[in-house]
Amino acid sequence: MREATIFTSINLSGYPKMMKQLSIDCRIQSLFPVALASLLVLGTARLALDNFKSNDSLVFRLYGRPRDERHRTPIVVSPDDRLEEECNVFEGNWVWDNISYPLYTEESCPYLVKQVTCGRNGRPDSFYKNWRWQPNGCNLPRVNPLKLLQILRGKRLMFVGDSVQRAQFESMVCLVQSVIPEGKKSLRRVPPMKIFRVEEFDASIEYYWAPFVVESNSDHATNHTVLKRSVKLDSIAKHGKEWEKVDILVFESYVWWMYKPQINATYGSPYEVREYNVTTAYRLALETWANWINSKINPHTQTVFFMSMSPTHLWRWEWEPGSGGNCFNESLPIQGPYWGTGSSLQIMDIVHDILQQLKVNVTLLNITQLSEFRKDAHTSVYGERRGKLLTKEQRSDPKNFADCIHWCLPGVPDTWNEILYTYLLKNHHNFL
Ligand SMILES: *[C@@H]1O[C@H](CO)[C@@H](O)[C@H](O)[C@H]1NC(C)=O
Ligand SMILES: *[C@@H]1O[C@H](CO)[C@@H](O)[C@H](O)[C@H]1NC(C)=O
Ligand SMILES: *[C@@H]1O[C@H](CO)[C@@H](O)[C@H](O)[C@H]1NC(C)=O
Ligand SMILES: *[C@@H]1O[C@H](CO)[C@@H](O)[C@H](O)[C@H]1NC(C)=O
Ligand SMILES: *[C@@H]1O[C@H](CO)[C@@H](O)[C@H](O)[C@H]1NC(C)=O
Ligand SMILES: *[C@@H]1O[C@H](CO)[C@@H](O)[C@H](O)[C@H]1NC(C)=O
Ligand SMILES: *[C@@H]1O[C@H](CO)[C@@H](O)[C@H](O)[C@H]1NC(C)=O
Ligand SMILES: *[C@@H]1O[C@H](CO)[C@@H](O)[C@H](O)[C@H]1NC(C)=O
Repeated sequence: MREATIFTSINLSGYPKMMKQLSIDCRIQSLFPVALASLLVLGTARLALDNFKSNDSLVFRLYGRPRDERHRTPIVVSPDDRLEEECNVFEGNWVWDNISYPLYTEESCPYLVKQVTCGRNGRPDSFYKNWRWQPNGCNLPRVNPLKLLQILRGKRLMFVGDSVQRAQFESMVCLVQSVIPEGKKSLRRVPPMKIFRVEEFDASIEYYWAPFVVESNSDHATNHTVLKRSVKLDSIAKHGKEWEKVDILVFESYVWWMYKPQINATYGSPYEVREYNVTTAYRLALETWANWINSKINPHTQTVFFMSMSPTHLWRWEWEPGSGGNCFNESLPIQGPYWGTGSSLQIMDIVHDILQQLKVNVTLLNITQLSEFRKDAHTSVYGERRGKLLTKEQRSDPKNFADCIHWCLPGVPDTWNEILYTYLLKNHHNFL
């Protein structure tokens, strides 16, 4: 079966003009008063990657066999795991750290789809794998796969969104899978879902394809229309049924909205399709989502996150004035401050408004800024188009074929998950 992608059939060149139009007036000049200095400093690397092996005894020695004893084993939260309450983990810089990063390799994780394995697909440079996100006020705790599985014991963690979100799902699977012995883990496709199951922990990490969060005619996992998209701004029940019992939900929806300044949608009558401004449509869709959250989520047993938009790097002139091209052949992060016009602040404001009005707490993981710096980390010409790796000819035409939307793995989505892990650890600790 073919993988679902954002751009299975559209020409990327139509996209930039629209994005520019849509957000030209909300560009912000300087986000960080403090310059991000010394990016290429060799990181004061923390412990080398913990050398977990796929060995039953290790897993079970530390945490016991859940089948035999169902009670929760307390998780040891070490001082390194604690986060200062005040620390804003989304403000900081990328530091060179080729000792701790990458957190896994393409070879060690069999669950990566071809779309993200840039190295295997022929990307010649590998610096993009070696950056660690360093918040200004604290350190992110190291992802400890066993601790994470312990947090997820008896639970379902589900990522809902488009193919950018799918990369975050895959990253999460890769972060934990190394400690689980062969035969005790499985990845199943149950369209529109993917389910990674860890038997011993009765835990699952899942992905649910819903590029607009609400229902649309693009909801088929593989056969979805990109050009003739039509969104049902007031319908979410069909998806919602599959989300209701999930313990930890992580939502994301952005780039599918941004194809043109208008989008065809229905609201009220299911037969009356009309064009809406994207911002209007996005707000209506999120209101539908918010109503669902308010009525279905039990804040005592369920946790909900919302990922802010994943930035794109489609126009090189934005970070290097006077130049042409896109993210192709970029091998180093941007030394801030930087905010691309592709990241709509209007959409950001809508997300802010909607989350503010919710009755249930939903945590925004505001990863846009930290990802903005990573012009070097997209799949570029080392990914897929229409489910197939680019041909040699296509690769030599980056202007038309570079994908500056999706990210290589290992890479930036691992950092999103390190931050998600930080929050899960904190919440879990608070419950004990
Ligand atoms: C698992 O660990 C034990 C000792 O802890 C060792 O004897 C055994 O060889 C290991 N098995 C594998 C598959 O690594
Ligand atoms: C890590 O980076 C340093 C500094 O750039 C370099 O000297 C060293 O060879 C690198 N080590 C590895 C294993 O790539
Ligand atoms: C894909 O969807 C379209 C329209 O919904 C349909 O006409 C077509 O037969 C489908 N193709 C496959 C392979 O299922
Ligand atoms: C909406 O649908 C109509 C009819 O299919 C089409 O002509 C129009 O271009 C669509 N609008 C957008 C914004 O896609
Ligand atoms: C849609 O956007 C355009 C341009 O931004 C604006 O002039 C128009 O009033 C908007 N329409 C609606 C219905 O919001
Ligand atoms: C890639 O960038 C390097 C400089 O960073 C340049 O020398 C090289 O020609 C570029 N390659 C292509 C194919 O543009
Ligand atoms: C997310 O962070 C950016 C700056 O990094 C800020 O401009 C934006 O308002 C934040 N979004 C929300 C919804 O708080
Ligand atoms: C939501 O979170 C805030 C701060 O984290 C907390 O003060 C508040 O009590 C929470 N509200 C609910 C309904 O859980």
